[in-house]
Amino acid sequence: MKQNVSTEEAIKRWDSFADTYSKKHTEQGDLHKEVFLNPTLFSLMGNVENKKVLDAGCGEGYLSRILSKSCAVVTAVDYSPRMIEIAKSRTPKDLLIDYSQGNCEDLNTLEDKSFDLIVSNMVIQDLANYEKAFQEMYRLLEDGGYFIFSILHPCFVTPESGWEKTEDGRKLHWNVDKYFYEGAYEQRLGDKEKMLLFHRTLTSYINTLIKIGFVLEGIVEPKPSIEMLQKYPSFEEDFRCADFIVFKLKK
Ligand SMILES: C[S@@+](CC[C@H](N)C(=O)[O-])C[C@H]1O[C@@H](n2cnc3c(N)ncnc32)[C@H](O)[C@@H]1O
Repeated sequence: MKQNVSTEEAIKRWDSFADTYSKKHTEQGDLHKEVFLNPTLFSLMGNVENKKVLDAGCGEGYLSRILSKSCAVVTAVDYSPRMIEIAKSRTPKDLLIDYSQGNCEDLNTLEDKSFDLIVSNMVIQDLANYEKAFQEMYRLLEDGGYFIFSILHPCFVTPESGWEKTEDGRKLHWNVDKYFYEGAYEQRLGDKEKMLLFHRTLTSYINTLIKIGFVLEGIVEPKPSIEMLQKYPSFEEDFRCADFIVFKLKK
């Protein structure tokens, strides 16, 4: 575990990983987004037509483009300048997405109560100061607006977790360790590249959201649907434990 790691240090790694990361993304995101996260996010978001939506930590922008095609008015921020460049280059001119570089922990260029909905897909575990980001999301939402975010499931994806395998590679069970060790750790994402992730317990997440004033409307631990299992049978193993958790909160 690493202590005192800053968001700036974490974002440098994202910036240099941006091109490799984006190559794995189609207009549906990557495979895990197609199978787990998109169906969950879209069902929680409902109809976004004419809604003012912030995509907080937009990456290469696939989600912003889907939202914009669904007639939402989309603002998208990411702290990595390279991610924003890629997102802009992938966005056709007729999709009027307002992209800018910004740190989710301090979005002072955006006005109070300027969004009906904020979505943040797989970003919050990348932030050194998640409390500040939650406060920002609260400030930026209209009264009654929704904040929907997905993260790696903190009960299963911990600083030391992974499959216990037999010598010939058969998966026996998923190991979890160091659950109560909050702080930064490295996780391999590319072939060589390691990102800095920040682990917190489920209690820390939920109590922080409550303290800020959010009302918890729902939680989803996404599983593959029958259709997705027919398309990608190897995801059967995801019934053994959850990789992700998605929160829906109301201001
Ligand atoms: C796992 S990617 C997810 C990207 C996008 N939401 C998606 O679903 O494809 C995490 C993203 O968070 C961005 N990020 C990390 N820290 C950030 C911060 N402090 N503020 C804004 N974006 C940040 C990274 O640059 C990266 O694009």
